[in-house]
Amino acid sequence: MTTTLPIERQEPAGGGIVTGLDAARLDDATFAAVQAAFLEHHVLCFRGQDLTPDQQLEFAARWGTISHHPYVPSLEGHPGVMEIFQVTGITETWHADTTQVANPPKITMLLARELPEHGGDTMFANMHMAYAGLSDGLRATVDSLRAVHYGTELAAQSGVDKAAVTHSHPVAIRHPETGRRTLFVNADYVRHFDGWTEAESRPLLEYLYSLAAMPEYQYRHRWQVGDLLMWDNRSVQHRVVHDYGDARRYLHRVTLEGDPLE
Ligand code: SIN
Repeated sequence: MTTTLPIERQEPAGGGIVTGLDAARLDDATFAAVQAAFLEHHVLCFRGQDLTPDQQLEFAARWGTISHHPYVPSLEGHPGVMEIFQVTGITETWHADTTQVANPPKITMLLARELPEHGGDTMFANMHMAYAGLSDGLRATVDSLRAVHYGTELAAQSGVDKAAVTHSHPVAIRHPETGRRTLFVNADYVRHFDGWTEAESRPLLEYLYSLAAMPEYQYRHRWQVGDLLMWDNRSVQHRVVHDYGDARRYLHRVTLEGDPLE
């Protein structure tokens, strides 16, 4: 028997809101239905989750191995939980998370603990749709390219070995679970195509980055405290909207280790 979830699709591009489920207490059949829904919607939000950091980690561990950021420290006493409390150039730019490592995270989960009264939404862009929207000619070019992803300034400051945070991935990866192609270049971490200079790469990279701004590829998440939001880091890019001045916005982030990308 299949389990039907209380889920509402938000946009053609993705985003499913699940209400009335306690993420800390999903039986196996419901969890299997959630896994299938995640691949279908790319971004899933469980409303009203009152989870401790350990419960967030336990829920995350059902999805795979918890990953540890190569240079950003965890919340004290909770390895794997990262605190998000300020907007940075990195979070305000369209990106996928930590693509500079060998196997970038497959999933990111954010739990909203404190929010501004208005604003601070997170935007998502469906990169399967962006890939499918390319002309045959550009798609063939993109299929033949790899891009080199680099760690940020913070990596250099924290003394991380450069090689550990410099990796090349195909520009159009195959989603390891669905096999669907998706564009996998982002302005936070990519500097050039493999074998191309930065100057040669820039015009095409800028064009590919600009696709995330197409409204028809987007889902905009309007947060509530207690939202546990998870996204497929291979399928979507995201960015936060910094429209709330210096009001407090505080979330806990957990990521799951990904597979090699082809
Ligand atoms: C992130 O980019 O990981 C954080 C996104 C957000 O703060 O909404």
